[in-house]
Amino acid sequence: MTELTKNAPVVTIDGPSGSGKGTIAKLLADRLGFALLDSGALYRLTALAALNAGVDLVDEARVADIAANLDIRFAIADGEVSAVLGGVDVSRDIRMEEVSMAASRVAAVPAVREALLQRQRDFRAAPGLVADGRDMGTTVFPDAPVKIFLTASAEERARRRYAQLQGRGVSVSLRDLLEDIRARDDRDMNRAASPLAPAEDAVVLDSTDIDIEGVLQKVLELVQQRVV
Ligand code: DC
Repeated sequence: MTELTKNAPVVTIDGPSGSGKGTIAKLLADRLGFALLDSGALYRLTALAALNAGVDLVDEARVADIAANLDIRFAIADGEVSAVLGGVDVSRDIRMEEVSMAASRVAAVPAVREALLQRQRDFRAAPGLVADGRDMGTTVFPDAPVKIFLTASAEERARRRYAQLQGRGVSVSLRDLLEDIRARDDRDMNRAASPLAPAEDAVVLDSTDIDIEGVLQKVLELVQQRVV
């Protein structure tokens, strides 16, 4: 790793599902010309690979082995990032509800987190990186100059997801979505390994009542203040 890569600034954006961090991370990386790490996709890919291989998710050693040996790459076409597993584009598959639930389970396994740690750090490159996840500011990039913790109420996050699914013609119940979100929050916040929590030096932003552009402006101000 070159000095330039090792010292490249990182903007970490952590928070629960549906807080808008994926959207913010993508817009921010575009504006700054930085690389983007969607760390959740790595847990989703691990989960999908385990499901495809018929591995029982309680078999932590086998799931960790899958995480350590993932054959993946991220391809960019027309500004969209696609996730490729074993040569197959699985961008849609990793967003399925079954894979989301499995990802939350594999993400609670310490050996899986350990196996994915260096892979995440390898995304750091000049001129900088925007890293989106749950423990980017606490565990993966503790020296990041800008750390954001983006939240929104569970009800608002369920409403956003509902609107998104309706837009795609998927019929779901708002109440079920809210329950899923609460279950996932509970698992992400209460696991022993790298639980979802703001880093001590993170700036906490609540997106319940601010739109995407408002959040983006606040984050850009922080980047301008802290990254020279
Ligand atoms: O952000 P996402 O919904 O794509 O993440 C998928 C799952 O992975 C979710 O349950 C949280 C978990 N995750 C994690 O534990 N640590 C990260 N850095 C990113 C995601």
